[in-house]
Amino acid sequence: MADRGFRAVVPNITSDPETGIGRWTDTQVAAAIREGRRPDGSLIGPPMPIDVYRHISDRDLAAIVTYLRTVPPVRHAVIEPSTYPFPLASHGPPAARVPDPPQDDPVARGAYLAGPLAHCTDCHTPPLANEQRDWSRTGAGGVPFEGPWGVVVSRNITPDREHGIGGWTDEQIIRALLQGVSADGRRLAPPMSGRTSVWAQLSQRDLSDLVAYLRSLPPQRP
Ligand code: HEC
Repeated sequence: MADRGFRAVVPNITSDPETGIGRWTDTQVAAAIREGRRPDGSLIGPPMPIDVYRHISDRDLAAIVTYLRTVPPVRHAVIEPSTYPFPLASHGPPAARVPDPPQDDPVARGAYLAGPLAHCTDCHTPPLANEQRDWSRTGAGGVPFEGPWGVVVSRNITPDREHGIGGWTDEQIIRALLQGVSADGRRLAPPMSGRTSVWAQLSQRDLSDLVAYLRSLPPQRP
């Protein structure tokens, strides 16, 4: 990934003991995901969205670690370092205990899905300096993504009728996720379109809670 002035090289996270994370303890793997810190104390930089991963619940974090342990080891040394033209900011103190979101509150549950789990809000919230996000404008879009497809900028997914998705039906929002198609029928580009198969695994309830959350956001204009 070589956009926005930094070059991040994705490390091996299989259970290979030499070139992956096979020797890390569960606590160390959990700290890397939720606190952005490696066992040697170094900080993990963008695009790992630690800001939102800090809110992954204890239960989901444990499940992710358990899953990573089942990934077959692949021996693949990644030696090129990531390079950032800015100092990496500490992600803050260890997240103490994070409960699951309330199950009887669609907006809160949708916020949890849209943040820590699917990180819609990370990609769709305008950047500040050094890859921080302007959370006072959550969902306003404007993050550039560069890849073989060219440069694609994330869109405004707040309920503003003119600039966001306020005029979209629930079905159109869900179709954007599951089929990668905008309300006007335009095919969405990566990295949005590349995730349709992942989002296809969301339940009906997950999808309607996500929509409830998006509709609860304060509308944003450019
Ligand atoms: C990796 C970054 C990334 C993630 C994660 C992501 N998006 Fe997107 N999204 C984009 C980009 C970039 C576009 C613009 C694509 C284009 O214009 O072709 C986009 C487009 C959209 C659109 C279409 C808007 C329009 O006006 O056409 C919707 C709706 C949307 N995203 C909702 C979501 C939701 C909901 C989630 C979480 C489930 C999500 N996105 C997660 C990057 C992302």
